Amino acid sequence: GIPVVLDVDTGVDDACALLLAALHPGLDLRAVTCVGGNAPLVDVVRNTLTVLEMVGRTEVPVGIGAARPLLEDPVDARHVHGSDGMADLGLPSPAMRPDERIAVDLLRDTIEASADEGRPLTLVPLAPMTNIALLARLHPHAFRRLGRVVFMGGGANVSNATAAAEFNVFHDPEAAAVVLDACAVHEVPVTMYGLDVFYEPKVTDAHVARLRGIDTAAAQLAAALISFHHRRFASDGATIGDAGAVATLLAPDAVRTERRPVRVELSGTWTRGRTIVDTRDWSGDMAHDPHGPAPASVDVALEVNGPWLADVWL
Ligand code: BDR
Ligand code: CA
Repeated sequence: GIPVVLDVDTGVDDACALLLAALHPGLDLRAVTCVGGNAPLVDVVRNTLTVLEMVGRTEVPVGIGAARPLLEDPVDARHVHGSDGMADLGLPSPAMRPDERIAVDLLRDTIEASADEGRPLTLVPLAPMTNIALLARLHPHAFRRLGRVVFMGGGANVSNATAAAEFNVFHDPEAAAVVLDACAVHEVPVTMYGLDVFYEPKVTDAHVARLRGIDTAAAQLAAALISFHHRRFASDGATIGDAGAVATLLAPDAVRTERRPVRVELSGTWTRGRTIVDTRDWSGDMAHDPHGPAPASVDVALEVNGPWLADVWL
């Protein structure tokens, strides 16, 4: 399988992503790192350990990362994810313990080990990118050995946390800016799986009924998580959210990307945290842009085949 590390703020849909990464034979989940976001860090760590333990992946090291964004105060999203950050399902406390290494060190070691094997790691941030920015600054030699970054965040035309910005980028805009810069400097390919595509892979009531009929802890947990999303969101199906970004690793043809310059707005009154995706024609207006040329370095997901990605998850 493809060697991957997930950076999460578990999180109902982060849990869906963890299930896919932990169980799909096409993926080799080598570590998970945690960051404060959807829920406070202690809840994120517990939820992450619970998911891995429920599916028997207790050997996967889980690193504790940043509790707070680089500059902002933490603002969690428990109104979306439940008071425990994971749908208030009353799941048992995990016996599994986190790794002794902090997240940035676990990331460094895992990246180096994969690169040494000749199988460079795919890093999948599904949360505010505080840990990844710290990695880029503290361990640049490891960062540059990444095979690829595929992050959930931002959007060319769609927002959620504010009228202008997506939650993960809004939560720590400086971190997102540092990560995009580091990817450009170190020539690490980076894909932005943002809100333009995020809501498309959906699971229907019929799918949930099928999951409920499968007698495994993973299927039961998946059904419970998705039902929670159903209650909160659309009746025509619940998005698998962050899990869609992981599914694109297994079905690259289910996503259409364009390589574009992306900048993160750090100072706007109403636009802080917005990802500015430059969709202009290179030859025209861009050449006369007073801001100067921005490198087109991000593969921005603009369209996905939602049913295909949902199928990968199911
Ligand atoms: C992102 O924010 C969180 O609520 C989800 O887990 C996802 O990572 C969507 O904006
Ligand atoms: Ca998330």
